[in-house]
Amino acid sequence: MVEILPSILAADFARLSGEIAAVEAAGVSMLHLDVMDGRFVPNISFGPPVIRSIRECTGLHLDVHLMIEDPARYIADFARAGADSISVHQEACAHLDRALRMIQDVGKQAGAAINPSTPVAALDEVLEIVDFVLVMSVNPGFGGQKFIPRTLRKVMELDRRRHEEGYTYKIEIDGGIHAGNAGDVARAGCDWIVAGSSVFGEEDPAAAARNLERTAREATLVKV
Ligand code: DX5
Ligand code: ZN
Repeated sequence: MVEILPSILAADFARLSGEIAAVEAAGVSMLHLDVMDGRFVPNISFGPPVIRSIRECTGLHLDVHLMIEDPARYIADFARAGADSISVHQEACAHLDRALRMIQDVGKQAGAAINPSTPVAALDEVLEIVDFVLVMSVNPGFGGQKFIPRTLRKVMELDRRRHEEGYTYKIEIDGGIHAGNAGDVARAGCDWIVAGSSVFGEEDPAAAARNLERTAREATLVKV
């Protein structure tokens, strides 16, 4: 089943619990949390203390996207803070296999993320162990950027390979998703669709999340 994951990067941080409660009431079951260190990406966001506070105010699945250098150093901290799934960037890991296993060893779902310029082939050796693959559809660092259409080819490749080769990973997409392209990404094979500005940037985030979910689910129903 396709899920919409609102990214709190676009939310009003001064009233975060209200923002989260609104999308939760709309039927969302997962939240996407963007951690940025000002080194792997040019922006700085938040770390474990904020995630711990969010954990205390919601039972939603917390999907933590680490856009940081040497993420393995912090996996235990993010797991303890309350993450349910954690993704690390292939480009940031000298030892990707080890980082993914560290995440699984602390009982969390492990994801490998790839930037728009990184091919799926860079994940060949870990596809059989990952719980999910995160395809970045913008260059990471900022919300509100324009979707890069050619990244959909990687989603289709990942979808084809999991069917042909028997892998069980989910496919997540992140960046520039809105009501106009949510159907396309769902049809291409995405299971988890991240949406920041097109949820929390809208006047009514709950209605926006519901609309995105309906659009994505309807698109998969007509998948042939
Ligand atoms: C970008 C982040 C995204 C971001 C998406 O670096 O990883 O998760 O919050 O924001 P939108 O949906 O506005 O592109
Ligand atoms: Zn993200």
